[in-house]
Formats: sequence, structure tokens, C-alpha cells
Amino acid sequence: MAAVAANLSRRLEGKVAVITGAASGIGEATVGLFQKHGAKVIIADIADQLGKNLVQSLSVSPEVTYIHCDVRREEDVSAAVDLAMEKHGKLDIMFNNAGVIDNKTNKAVECDMEEFQRAMNVNLRGVMLGIKHAGRVMIPNKKGCIISTSSIAGIFGGTASYSYTASKHAVIGLTKQGAAEMGKYGIRVNCVSPSGLATVLAFQYFGMNTTNVEEKKVECEAFCNKISKLKNHTLKAHDIAEAALYLASEEAKFVSGHNLMVDGGFTVVNHDWGLY
Ligand SMILES: NC(=O)c1ccc[n+]([C@@H]2O[C@H](COP(=O)([O-])OP(=O)(O)OC[C@H]3O[C@@H](n4cnc5c(N)ncnc54)[C@H](O)[C@@H]3O)[C@@H](O)[C@H]2O)c1
Repeated sequence: MAAVAANLSRRLEGKVAVITGAASGIGEATVGLFQKHGAKVIIADIADQLGKNLVQSLSVSPEVTYIHCDVRREEDVSAAVDLAMEKHGKLDIMFNNAGVIDNKTNKAVECDMEEFQRAMNVNLRGVMLGIKHAGRVMIPNKKGCIISTSSIAGIFGGTASYSYTASKHAVIGLTKQGAAEMGKYGIRVNCVSPSGLATVLAFQYFGMNTTNVEEKKVECEAFCNKISKLKNHTLKAHDIAEAALYLASEEAKFVSGHNLMVDGGFTVVNHDWGLY
């Protein structure tokens, strides 16, 4: 019994992970949790100062590294994966988490195509590149785990803009196709879909102008709690990190092609009739 408990406290012992969009929000929480569970983590982001600060804050472990990586650029994603190979000799977990959101009012007829392209480039092309380059080094090893971040906007319309909704639907498509192609190499491909939680991305979504982060957080969480069906908890970045930990761990060894909803049941409830 004691041995099982010990394993559960170090569920990623010796594993090597690259996490994109890891300098803040969900990615940042996942870096901390993966590292706590024994993983060596490469933080791949464009927010250099935040990324470096995070490495310093985790300096108890020398096994967390930062690399500047714009997921829109193939050479950057390739370099982040290569860094894992050079530094640690393998890549066990690729978490394609970087994402941006455009204005929710970016509707079809007046769609700002530059904004549209930006979201598609980061949210869709970035995930595709992550799967491509993780697969490149995982296939010869005949094992690995790829996780991407989709959203509740990945399974229905009406919660965000065209580009965000389309890109997050596409992440689920990439996940299913990845699972189909890579299963024969022992590689699992999954995604996680959060509902709303207070991060910089959500502040942008709500168009919150105040510079006071605490105020934004309170306002954002109040809105998320109001629309949530599950009332006893406020969704936090750490909860998504826990979902990613599950998908990355041995406990999920036969889980592939799955979209793990972490939305308190939001997407399975009829919100219009007001029955419950
Ligand atoms: N916060 C929410 O309510 C919510 C809900 C559902 C899904 N998501 C998804 O969660 C993921 C993480 O977002 P978050 O909420 O933690 O927001 P966040 O803004 O805190 O984190 C996003 C991170 O991505 C990085 N990033 C942006 N563009 C990049 C690029 N081109 N290359 C590399 N890194 C880049 C940012 O620097 C930042 O560190 C995103 O994919 C987002 O779409 C968020």
C-alpha cells in the first residue's frame, strides 16, 4: 500500500516534458505540478521574462529550462523538442498548450482576417507543429504522450469568436487523427478542454481594462461561477494541470484520442430552459 502511495506522489518520475504557453496560466500551473511529480520540464513560450522568472522560482530543481518558442514558427517548435533530446536524451510528454483569443465580437461579416489568422496560427498551426515534432522524436522510441489544450469552444458554438471556436474544434480533430496515426508506435494523443477560468487570456476575452490583476481575477471568477452548473468550486489553472497530469501519467496508459472535458458539466447541460 505504501509503495502505491509513493508512486502516486511522483507520477512522472524521470519523465521529460515540453510545455508550450508555459510561462503563465494553465501552462505555468502544469510546469509546477509536473516538476513536483518528478518530471524535467522545458518551458516553451514567447513571454521570455515570465518564463525565466518561473525557472528561477522553481530553482530548487535544476531540471526546469526555458526556451523562447513561438509556436507559429516551425523552427522554434522543432528547436524546443530538440532541446529536450539534447539535454535529457528523450521526450516523454508534449503539452501543446499555447493559445490566444481574439475578440469575441469578431463576427463573420465584419471578421478581422488578421485577428482570425493570428488565432488560427497559434491555436491550430501551433498544435499541429507540436504534434509533428513530438511525433518525430517519439516514434523511434515507440512511446510518448501528446496532450493539447482545446476548450469548451471546441465542441459547440456561441462561446467565443469564429477563429477561436474553429481552431479549438480543430484541436480535437488533430487529437483524433494523431491517435489514429500514432497508436501503432505506442504514442497516446489526447486533449483537455477547460471551461472559463481566470487567466490573462480570459481577461482579454472579457475585455477587462483595469490594470489591477486581482480585480480582474475577482470579476472573471464571478462571471465563470455565475454561468457554471457545478457550484461548489471555482475552476483554477491547477485543476487543468491535474487533468494534464492524469493524461500524462501511467494511470491513463490506455487512454488515447480522448477529449477530457474539465467544465463542471457545462457542455452537457441545456442552459436555455432553466430547469435546473
Ligand atoms: N482561460 C480560459 O478560460 C481557457 C478556457 C479554455 C481553454 N483555454 C486554453 O488554455 C490554454 C492556455 O491559456 P491560459 O488560459 O492559461 O492563458 P494565458 O494567457 O495565461 O497563457 C497563454 C500562454 O501562451 C503563450 N503564448 C501566446 N502566444 C504564443 C506563441 N505564439 N508561442 C508560444 N507561446 C505563446 C503566452 O505567452 C502565455 O504564456 C490556451 O490554449 C487557451 O486557449 C483557456
